[in-house]
Amino acid sequence: MKQKSTCFVSTRLWMSVVAAALAAKGALAQTNATVLNGSLKEAYKNYFTVGVAINTRQQVDQDRRAEPIIKSQFAAIAPENCLKWESVQPRPGTNGYSFQSADAYVAFGEKNNMMIVGHTLVWHGQTPQWVFQGEGGRALQRTNDADRALLLERLHEHIATVVGRYKGRIKVWDVVNETLSDGGGNDTILRAQSPWVRILGYEFIEKAFIWAHEADPDAILRYNDYSLENAPKRAKLITLVKRLQEKNIPISAIGSQTHVNLTWPTFADEDAALTEMASLKLPIYITELDVKAGASGQRIRSGAVDANANLGGGGDTQALADSVQQALAKQYVNLFTAFCKHSADIKLVTFWNVTDADSWLRGQNPLLFDAQGKPKPAYEAVLKLPETLKK
Ligand code: GLA
Repeated sequence: MKQKSTCFVSTRLWMSVVAAALAAKGALAQTNATVLNGSLKEAYKNYFTVGVAINTRQQVDQDRRAEPIIKSQFAAIAPENCLKWESVQPRPGTNGYSFQSADAYVAFGEKNNMMIVGHTLVWHGQTPQWVFQGEGGRALQRTNDADRALLLERLHEHIATVVGRYKGRIKVWDVVNETLSDGGGNDTILRAQSPWVRILGYEFIEKAFIWAHEADPDAILRYNDYSLENAPKRAKLITLVKRLQEKNIPISAIGSQTHVNLTWPTFADEDAALTEMASLKLPIYITELDVKAGASGQRIRSGAVDANANLGGGGDTQALADSVQQALAKQYVNLFTAFCKHSADIKLVTFWNVTDADSWLRGQNPLLFDAQGKPKPAYEAVLKLPETLKK
């Protein structure tokens, strides 16, 4: 068992820890080193596992820039795209699968002795249209939607096949991704525009967890979503998870994507979010961490995930101005300080991609490594933070 930090100190004290960490000599110094002298996975080993999402070139060692970073810094991997429905089952039926890329992903994790995450079984994004379409008279009246039974059959077959194939090897699955709606007030809890919600209501969520559990009873099964740092969205998460728990649905973890920006969330926001999520008595996984270091307001209001992926700006992958580098370092230190404070509940912190050049937010410089794979001041600050916390 890993030794866990169990510090219950006041928010004010933690704020001063953040300030001390930022002031630490050299924490914000510009670094040009291409050789990394430290390791994030080592630095945080008493707190939680640190992981990264990788792409299909990286999983076959075709990315020389990212390879040394992945292997020296991270102890867990998530698949950026290769296990999404459109990649793994592009066509209907048992012959419609394409496992080459997913197999390579899992083999990479095993070869490098990493924790392997599966992402994602059920999502409205990156899912082929055929999944939702009626066939052979099995359609809902007056629509071309599949009827409930047909959609559930497809879901069951997909989950049993994909989870079953990697049973015991993929240890953690994002079972349901982003099914909470974004609006506040009287808005419904579930994302009404999702075909899953439109056709099946809550049923697909419950069945997805049940079938994933049947396919691999030892896998950790997460519900994964974004903007859980915002209280109204988090309230929906809590309602949804409690409902599942009351029905004994086998959900075993919360995935908080943590796509954030320079000013949001504050340390206090993140601290409050983690405290409230922990009240569900499920472990928390930070699943898709990145910090948009450009204009504020990343995908917090829109549910149009695919459109949001294009918000990155004009492909500006140049180095950030020093003041922005410092703001990025400060925000990462805020976040990791909160993660460490809550390390009794947090199992894994996963960055969403390796370098700024790989990111879905290309142009927003969101990661710890720049487009050339060089560590940014934010990397140095995050790496050094645990030393400061020990003091
Ligand atoms: C969501 C998904 C990820 C990724 C990002 C960016 O957060 O969960 O798989 O696609 O959007 O596009």
